[in-house]
Amino acid sequence: MKLLQKISPDLNESGTRIISARPEDSERCSEILYGSTLGKRYYPTFSMLKKAVAAGIRNDHFFLAVNGGTICGFIWFTAKGAFALYPYLHIVVVDDHYRKLGIGKKLLDYYEEECLRLGGGLKGRSYLVVSEDNVGAQNLYSSMGYKMVSELPGLFRKGFNEILMTKTILKAGKK
Ligand SMILES: CC(C)(COP(=O)(O)OP(=O)(O)OC[C@H]1O[C@@H](n2cnc3c(N)ncnc32)[C@H](O)[C@@H]1OP(=O)(O)O)[C@@H](O)C(=O)NCCC(=O)NCCS
Repeated sequence: MKLLQKISPDLNESGTRIISARPEDSERCSEILYGSTLGKRYYPTFSMLKKAVAAGIRNDHFFLAVNGGTICGFIWFTAKGAFALYPYLHIVVVDDHYRKLGIGKKLLDYYEEECLRLGGGLKGRSYLVVSEDNVGAQNLYSSMGYKMVSELPGLFRKGFNEILMTKTILKAGKK
């Protein structure tokens, strides 16, 4: 079975599933996000982060990567968050214990399928913003076909520059 590129001792071989988040998952998702540089940089306190995650699960599109009952990561997006027209990928995060196993890519693949489904066509467009110093995430996005649009200096935090990226998503087999 080759659902993950590599299997960590903590992951069972039945693979990782992507499922919708429920309100009761917000605590675990908040812990994962707060455990990342991203969470600590953009949310001043854990309680503010927890409120934001709970609202995201309630109001936005929010999916979990689950393996053997453990939530390993999640993806959070809005259907028309970019220019009130296109999907905007707000956050993708994987618990650092489970990184580099293909889970981030699996979440993004799922997101792209959702973009096509929500758009109801064979072609869609996605936008996201990534920190200038977040080389790991930039590599992931570039490897999946995202292109840089422009730099956005100090967009969320003074002194931290962001990069706007976009991708045209095509249904498999379409040009
Ligand atoms: C970005 C993130 C989601 C990637 O998750 P992941 O499960 O480790 O990613 P994957 O294992 O699916 O990686 C797929 C590819 O992305 C690239 N990549 C991922 N992390 C990388 C890193 N730290 N450095 C370099 N390349 C990286 C590689 O090309 C990798 O393919 P390879 O393993 O065949 O070389 C994870 O590192 C994370 O949660 N970071 C903190 C939160 C964050 O910054 N999110 C993005 C901004 S919203």
